[in-house]
Amino acid sequence: MSTLVLGIETSCDETSAAVVELGDAFALRSLVILSQDVHRLFGGVVPEIASRAHLTSVVPVTRRALADAGASLGTGDGRPIDAVAVTHAPGLVGALLVGMSYGKALAYAAGIPVLGVHHMEGHLFATALEHPDAVPPFTALLVSGGHTLLLDVEAWGSYRLLGATRDDAAGEAFDKVAKLMGLPYPGGRLIEQLARDGDPARHRFARPMVRANQTLGDADYFDVSFSGLKTALLHAVRRAESAGTLETERAHLARGFQDALVDTLVEKTDRAARAFGRERIVLGGGVACNRALAEAMQSRANPRGVRVYAPTPRLATDNAAMIAAAGAWRLARGERSDWSLNAYAAQPL
Ligand code: KG4
Ligand code: ZN
Repeated sequence: MSTLVLGIETSCDETSAAVVELGDAFALRSLVILSQDVHRLFGGVVPEIASRAHLTSVVPVTRRALADAGASLGTGDGRPIDAVAVTHAPGLVGALLVGMSYGKALAYAAGIPVLGVHHMEGHLFATALEHPDAVPPFTALLVSGGHTLLLDVEAWGSYRLLGATRDDAAGEAFDKVAKLMGLPYPGGRLIEQLARDGDPARHRFARPMVRANQTLGDADYFDVSFSGLKTALLHAVRRAESAGTLETERAHLARGFQDALVDTLVEKTDRAARAFGRERIVLGGGVACNRALAEAMQSRANPRGVRVYAPTPRLATDNAAMIAAAGAWRLARGERSDWSLNAYAAQPL
């Protein structure tokens, strides 16, 4: 016996719907993601525009995901969906409301349960859709445009927050540095491309929040901070600009920045895995698309027999498959949300 769950995700600037089946493991039956390109014009996500774009997209995106999976909601051809999982927090509240209200209405009309899913819990489940052994216990590093969280995951549903960023999220730091260098939004992928041609020895920035004598119990042992690194980069960019060498320095600057950020994340994640004796590390969020991060994490952890899992880009960035997976797990253990389910901009995991 397996269950079929429809997931809907509208927390930021992607409208996404997916169908996931949960039997012995998770199986992805369909995934549709529509990215809102319009925000590029503004150099960042404009909340009101995001909500309006979700309104026009959420119905066709959901229909397409159901059709691709050969599934249906009550009436129509195809295998019936057993429950609807919707992202209800955290995120842009107007954007969240669109997907959540639509998902609730669909579930109510079909007479099936609705489950509100925490967006960051979704990111934890994404990797399990591709790697059946990417399951707890594991150490998780979630790095996106809005969040940087280091977690110990003892079991699904049992999350211990170890560290977070004290200022900018990792993806936000990538995007801001890209902007400083005159690159379009979102700039993470472009910085990674540039960094490939950069000389790692040319600009060596200090590794934030990493000191040789840090010990478990220090307040900053697991935390990260990227605003100082960003400022160091700003000064380096200005120097290059006034020397008229920005064009030739760009790749080296991108490399110096990425190396410092990656080193910090790898060091903190490795500390967490060692502190809890975990044999698996799971990466998630948009910055987990970064190959340099995944490779550096592997080089650090693999020699100790620790496996590192990173989802493919379409499952690392925001998507509804991870929401459906988390919802399917919650449904399987007898949970459902009540019809008063609401959307929240911020909520702890
Ligand atoms: O998880 P996500 O799709 O959306 C949020 O919830 O924020 O993450 C988007 C973030 C952006 O900041 C983007 O620049 C970053 O992920 N990103 C990357 C890469 N691909 C996306 N950062 C570094 N390297 C990449 N290859
Ligand atoms: Zn996300």
